[in-house]
Formats: sequence, structure tokens, C-alpha cells
Amino acid sequence: MFIHQSVMTREAIDFLRPLKGGRYFDGTLGLGGHSLKILEACQGQCSVLCTDLDQDAIDLARQRLAGFADRAFLFQDSYNNFFYYMNELGWDELDGVILDLGVSSLQLETAEKGFSFVKDGPLDMRMGRAAGLIPASRLLERISYYELKKIISHYGEEPMAGKIARAILDAKQKHGIRTTLELAGIVERAYPARRRAMARNHPATRTFQALRIAVNKELESLEDFLKNIVGRLKPEARIVIISFHSLEDRIVKHFFRREASGCLCPPGYPVCECGHEKKLRILTKKPLTPSEQEIRDNPRSRSARLRAAERI
Ligand SMILES: C[S@@+](CC[C@H](N)C(=O)[O-])C[C@H]1O[C@@H](n2cnc3c(N)ncnc32)[C@H](O)[C@@H]1O
Repeated sequence: MFIHQSVMTREAIDFLRPLKGGRYFDGTLGLGGHSLKILEACQGQCSVLCTDLDQDAIDLARQRLAGFADRAFLFQDSYNNFFYYMNELGWDELDGVILDLGVSSLQLETAEKGFSFVKDGPLDMRMGRAAGLIPASRLLERISYYELKKIISHYGEEPMAGKIARAILDAKQKHGIRTTLELAGIVERAYPARRRAMARNHPATRTFQALRIAVNKELESLEDFLKNIVGRLKPEARIVIISFHSLEDRIVKHFFRREASGCLCPPGYPVCECGHEKKLRILTKKPLTPSEQEIRDNPRSRSARLRAAERI
């Protein structure tokens, strides 16, 4: 069976401290690694509501969690729709939440899903088919040079964004771009040879990351989710977010800081007009990073950042 090596599992479980009778939400189930640890930590006496956009991940996770079938509730959907499923289960509040963002190894390594620049597949990159997302091929159909450059530069933090955007649009106009390897080749050729020789990663890494984030609306989803979840946490419930991109980490950091503050009125206001109340206590002043051992065992974990907070 395909296994995705879960990242920072011990740290995540230490923060969540799963309680007997507790109700947890794992919004990015993937292959179920974090959910399994939650269920083991409470000795099968808590419950986990799980979502993932990817039906293949759900199917594999279901097998992996089979020992806890009556305690794990799996739904193929965006984590943003968590409240539908809480209602379905009759849950009002949660004792803990985890999001482990980004893509799974299953997604990266399944060529047909279109995330890979080393295995040929259709230019897709959607994490799930039923979420109203459009594949990368369609995103590229209508995009302007400036929009594409912005996506590659902002989401991919790619210094060659302008050259790459131009090369992609030229190739699209001349002969179309149908597959991931075609796109990877175009990006690679747009890179100056000297930079290509110096690069540690494949030259298409950042461009693929950027398109994937745009296709799946990853940053917008995270922002919406954070706004909606806090009101469904019990006092002392914990929220743990593992991110792999500096923009995601920044969203989490700013959100936690805001919700850990009382009044947000500009300095100098004689009385508070915003009425904002402190809702969270930050548990990680700085984000935690994986141990050296974990990075050696699982090099994909190296960019992970974990932040945790507690509902007041
Ligand atoms: C890094 S993997 C999670 C791995 C998992 N924690 C484990 O231990 O096996 C990220 C997962 O999040 C899912 N995902 C990404 N965005 C999502 C969203 N908005 N809603 C639900 N699932 C999402 C992806 O499909 C992927 O399976």
C-alpha cells in the first residue's frame, strides 16, 4: 500500500493532546497519518472528522484507519465545508483541529494527477475533481502575461517569472501545452543555462508550485477556513497548522496574532470601537521546524513550519 510519510507527527500530537471522548477535525486527511496518531493517542476513544479533496487519498486512508472505522468519519470535500459534516454528525464544537497543507506524495507521484514535472501526465494539478476547480491547462488558456507572471513570481517566489511566463504563453500560442513534461521543458529552456547549472532543484519546481497553488486556490481556502473555524472550537481546544510555503505560514502567523489580541483599534483611540475580543492563545512564538533526524529520514519535510494555538 502507498504510504505518505506524515510530517511533524509527534509535535502535532503533543499540541493536540487527544482526549478520550474528544472530537477532532483533520481537514487534510491525505493518507491518514495524523488522524491515525490522534486515534491511537486517545486509545480509540475519541472521534475524528476528516476531509480531503482527493478521493484516492480518502480510499487509501479508509483502509489505513479501518481499525477505527466507527471513530473516523471521512468525507471527500474541501476542509472549508467542515461545518456541513459537523452538522451531519451532530457536533457543535471541536476539541482540536489539524491542517497539514500542500500535496501528498501520492499526488506528486501519480502522473495522471498532473503535479509531476518528472513523470508525464495531463496538465491538471487539481487536488480533487468535484470541487469546482479548473485544471491548469484551462487556467493557462485564458491567462494574460501579467497575471501569469504574478502567479509565478508571487506563489512560486521565482526570480525568472517574467521570462518563464513569456515562454509559456509563446509555446501555448505556437503549439499548445498538453502535458506536464511539455510544460517542464518550456520552463527549463526559459532558464538561462548558468542558472540552470547552479540550481539545486529542477528549474520547473517553483513554477509548478505556483500553478498548483493558483489552481487549488490554496491561500484563499486557508484564509477562509481560519476565519470560520475559531468559532467552533471549545475553550482550550487546540489548532495546529503545518505549512510548507512562506505565504501560508504568514497567513497563519498573522491570523493567530490578530486573534490573540483584544482591541484592534488604531493606537490613540480613547475607547474601543471595534469590539474585537481575544480568542486564541499562541502556543508557538516561532514556528516549529522538523528535527534534523526527520529531515534526513524524509527530505520532503524540510520546508515544514508548524504553528499551534489554543482557544481561550
Ligand atoms: C500533506 S497531505 C496530508 C497528509 C496527511 N496529514 C497524512 O499524514 O497522511 C495534504 C492533503 O491535503 C489535501 N488538501 C489540500 N487542500 C485541501 C482542501 N482545501 N480541502 C481538503 N483537502 C485538501 C490534499 O489533497 C492532500 O491529500
